Amino acid sequence: MTVGSLYAGIGGICQGFKNAGMQIAWANEIDKWACKTYRQNFDHTLIEKDVFALNIEELEKVDIIAGGFPCQPFSVAGYRKGFNDARGNHFFRMLDFIDQMRPAVAFFENVKNLVGHDKGNTFKMIEKELRNREYSFHAKVLNTKDYGNIPHNRERIFIVAFDLNKYQDASEIFDFPSPSLLTSKISDFINDSPVDEKYYYREDKYMYSELEASIKSTETVYQWRRQYVRENKSNVCPTLTANMGTGGHNVPLVRVSDGIRKLTPTECLTLQGFPKSFKRQGVSDAQLYKQAGNSVSIPVIEAIAVNITKALNGEDTRSDTTLSTL
Ligand SMILES: C[S@@+](CC[C@H](N)C(=O)[O-])C[C@H]1O[C@@H](n2cnc3c(N)ncnc32)[C@H](O)[C@@H]1O
Repeated sequence: MTVGSLYAGIGGICQGFKNAGMQIAWANEIDKWACKTYRQNFDHTLIEKDVFALNIEELEKVDIIAGGFPCQPFSVAGYRKGFNDARGNHFFRMLDFIDQMRPAVAFFENVKNLVGHDKGNTFKMIEKELRNREYSFHAKVLNTKDYGNIPHNRERIFIVAFDLNKYQDASEIFDFPSPSLLTSKISDFINDSPVDEKYYYREDKYMYSELEASIKSTETVYQWRRQYVRENKSNVCPTLTANMGTGGHNVPLVRVSDGIRKLTPTECLTLQGFPKSFKRQGVSDAQLYKQAGNSVSIPVIEAIAVNITKALNGEDTRSDTTLSTL
């Protein structure tokens, strides 16, 4: 099975599909720093370009089109009236690839809020557009902490659509993977040894006393929210966000044996399921935090991709309830 990957970022979706045994034929990403990280970790073609500037006819046809498209707000009312702003939306751009390539499967990832956006109208429109093209529509919110034993609370909506003209049987036996038990702890993902001093918050920081008073547990990731420290649920890291490295907001903080510090970019990537060997030479911390926050959790993608492959091979994934009763 070959995959064409849109909005590839640093390749979280690509790696998940690869781990499930698929081959990435090509990927596209506009951001030069994401591309710099991506190229160090993958050998296949990465086209560094605006997705709207791609000539779809020139690209190899693939079995799966995948993308965690940026969720731009747009008006469904405008879309119904045929307004052009909707056509400039990234979801519609993904439909262009689907129309021209007719992949066996289309895969979409997005923030959970997509479901409720515009009172549910956006999501209904997405389903309608896929069904109009004779694709099926499987959608589910999955949380990283339930897949791959990673203590990261990250809920995302996933959509899997099969071409019903050729793969109706596969669609009927496809289901999303069942959750698995979370046994790992925050501390399992934190580097025990001292890290670079730039990550620490020492006494000279103006909010140090506030941090010292609030940050007590070594099994919690705290967040500095401009004015106060937010304590999150123990044992699960709050959703890592693209803006977490920008200073004032959402900075993930931990207590370690030698003080209080932010998570390093490596720790953030590990909490997304990236291997320790993931390369990112020449990319600044600010870019890396953004890339990690923008990315997906690889084990979640892999688990879905495994079920897609099974369904396409005639294996019923609906009975995959191994741990769901626990
Ligand atoms: C939510 S991130 C997806 C990250 C990816 N799933 C990963 O695992 O790293 C969306 C990506 O779309 C890219 N993007 C935004 N506008 C684009 C455009 N016009 N053409 C191509 N890529 C674009 C962004 O740079 C960003 O990396």
